[in-house]
Amino acid sequence: MRDITAPESLRWRRFVDVFESTVSAAGYELVIPPLLEDIGVFTRLGEATDVVTKEMYDFVDKGERHVALRPEQTASICRSFVEHRPTTPFKAWYSGPNFRYEKPQRGRYRQFDQVGVEVLGSLDPYVDVEVVQLGWIFFSSLGLQQVDLAVNSLGEPEDRAAYVAALASYFNERLDELSPESQQTLSRNPLRVLDSKRTQDQGVIAEAPLINSFWSDGAAAHFETFCNGLSTVGVPFSVDLKLVRGLDYYRGTTFEYRGGTLDSAQNALGGGGRYNGLVADLGGPDTPGVGFAIGLDRTLLACDDEGVFPAPAQHADVFVVDVCDGSDALLICSELRSSGIRTERSWDSRSMKAQMKAANRSGARFAILIGEDERASNTALIRDLRSDAEQISVPRNELLATLSTYLSSLQGAE
Ligand code: HAM
Repeated sequence: MRDITAPESLRWRRFVDVFESTVSAAGYELVIPPLLEDIGVFTRLGEATDVVTKEMYDFVDKGERHVALRPEQTASICRSFVEHRPTTPFKAWYSGPNFRYEKPQRGRYRQFDQVGVEVLGSLDPYVDVEVVQLGWIFFSSLGLQQVDLAVNSLGEPEDRAAYVAALASYFNERLDELSPESQQTLSRNPLRVLDSKRTQDQGVIAEAPLINSFWSDGAAAHFETFCNGLSTVGVPFSVDLKLVRGLDYYRGTTFEYRGGTLDSAQNALGGGGRYNGLVADLGGPDTPGVGFAIGLDRTLLACDDEGVFPAPAQHADVFVVDVCDGSDALLICSELRSSGIRTERSWDSRSMKAQMKAANRSGARFAILIGEDERASNTALIRDLRSDAEQISVPRNELLATLSTYLSSLQGAE
């Protein structure tokens, strides 16, 4: 777990702002689920999911309730849906931290932020298209160019079950060829063996049965409409029939956005899919769902690699240098800030030289100087810190108007 400090923290904030404008343009509404839920909400993610079995931060609280810090937010949104029963289709977006007890490394932390969307209450394959396209638009709004979209379908629940059984018997036949880690994974979740990046497993995985021969007609038709829809709206993708996702609730469509510049073990910027049984598992009416989550860390790493979406510069407009007792700076800061001018000052009656140094460091365009003369004549000096122009003296009651004019003419020039 880390502190996110400035200027990176400003970048995080802006990341969420860009996401919000992308998804609110499509009518998604913000849901802020709690960080902590009854553990039962997350055990529904599946007993074969590492996130549940190995990585959960769970504890018994003072009221003897077994609770957990959320490892993701899809289950929380579904729990919230069951509780509040909004009209469907319900289109939600969210952002915020999640917790997984994973081995920390570049792009993988124990507390990490995601942004995401979920749509509950529609089986229409065009919802899948809308959702996937929103993620795509978001990445391009950040300026990212090297994102690959992989899509797959895990079929109807029966298709998936038949496929898992076929995979299990295939891998069991070739058990000796698999790495010890994949042999272990096989006993818990045969699908996840397909995810192994170990060299030893690659030969066996390459010849494994593929999900598309298990698709029912309905699943195949849904997938075809989904893929055609993506093409219609100009979202490029590739079909990856071995794409399985880490969470167990997926049925039907699955997808992943991969960063072209990132190391393949850690290149998933985000992903999602359909989870048509989850709301019912949480005690609600049978309600289909589809959504995705995008991780901030990896997406920002990809932005660094591509040299896009830099941390926003945050500098003052004006720095007040008061070499009397600081009380004029108090008033001037208050007046300018309430008019929206970013204003800074020094403290502790520092020398003129020290205050000017701070003014230059603040990035402010103008310094306002108050000495004994200005104080006595109720004036202020304005000095442009980025030009050799003479400083000018203005009556104190004209300071705000003069600065506003200067700043807006600079803005116009930018
Ligand atoms: P997920 O694949 O577990 O899916 O996570 C989505 C993204 O969150 C990942 O691609 C990655 O960028 C980021 N992420 C996951 N774990 C970490 C970590 N330990 N450190 C940093 N980033 C991480 C879900 O969470 C699903 N809820 C997505 C979804 C929404 N499916 C349907 N709706």
